[in-house]
Amino acid sequence: MSAIRSVVRGVGSYLPARCLTNADLAQMVDTSDEWIVQRTGIRTRHIAAEGEVTSDLAIHAARAALADAGLTPDDIDLIVLATSTPDNTFPATAVSVQAGLGITHGAAFDLQAVCSGFVFALATADNFLKTGAYRRCLVIGAETFSRILDWSDRTTCVLFGDGAGALVLEAVRDEEEGRGVLTSHLRSDGRHKNKLYVDGGVSSTRSVGFLRMEGREVFRHAVGMITDVIVDAFEATGESADTIDWFVPHQANRRIIDASAVKLGIAPEKVVITVDQHGNTSAASIPLALAAAHADGRIKRGDLVLLEAMGGGFTWASALVRW
Ligand code: UT7
Repeated sequence: MSAIRSVVRGVGSYLPARCLTNADLAQMVDTSDEWIVQRTGIRTRHIAAEGEVTSDLAIHAARAALADAGLTPDDIDLIVLATSTPDNTFPATAVSVQAGLGITHGAAFDLQAVCSGFVFALATADNFLKTGAYRRCLVIGAETFSRILDWSDRTTCVLFGDGAGALVLEAVRDEEEGRGVLTSHLRSDGRHKNKLYVDGGVSSTRSVGFLRMEGREVFRHAVGMITDVIVDAFEATGESADTIDWFVPHQANRRIIDASAVKLGIAPEKVVITVDQHGNTSAASIPLALAAAHADGRIKRGDLVLLEAMGGGFTWASALVRW
């Protein structure tokens, strides 16, 4: 029986024009560039303009990914969009992206797994493509976390930023070079749901709410969860820290990324870092980092790329992709 693989055809991203630096934040709350850089590695982040919504960011990123793939919106029959900051409670932000791109066939829906959302979306799209139900999928991570930050809370407002990234995945039968999504591993454990959450919601408060986090608690769990799920990916494929070309982790905190790489024995030069420039953009952080490393020529066709994320829920996930 011939097998279908989900192969990356293109990648693109978009960042809002406005940058908010650590120095800017030090004017707003009791913090400093030194504290933020030392504890997180973040130097600056992008913030969406007034009226610029998550689907606007996503549409820009999707167009960039389509251009990179040499495809048009008409070629897409599935959109899976990961976000925790949708334009509205409903309809799904994905249908605004679909309409914005002028696509009237196929399906589009949102997926919510907070910072792990992109890897969950990639795995979901991969499974749909492998069944033969759809041909080409836009997998998007797009966020406007600036809208759910309490800008008076220095423990959270310095950490996050806005942005979007997108991949075009194509179902390819009998892929000869071994390209495509090789494996994905998704986990969640709702016992930790109060360690990183938004204190409002449609059914609970009829409001949007603000992000709340027990940062130290999240940090305490992060490295173990990340490394566990990466070991699962290595065991499923026979790959290892030595055989991967690039490690593209969720960009929450430089210290978490470095500690995970050390624990797994991944060489520092294989680690793609964008947290310094983007902050934590939740579901958008991995495709933003992929787009950056693809655009500057680091990630090339045939490279083995390891993705991982961990976030609210807790959720955590890994994927191995032969680019
Ligand atoms: O993407 C989803 C996953 N999220 C994460 O991965 C985030 C995980 N957590 C973290 O990245 C870190 O825990 C933080 C960056 C949030 C905090 O770093 P930390 O080293 O865990 O610091 P801490 O929370 O233990 O706080 C240390 C001190 C505290 O003061 P005291 O109690 O020692 O006097 C805080 O009040 O730093 C203080 N502090 C700040 N100082 C200056 C907290 N935020 C700030 C700030 N500026 N912005």
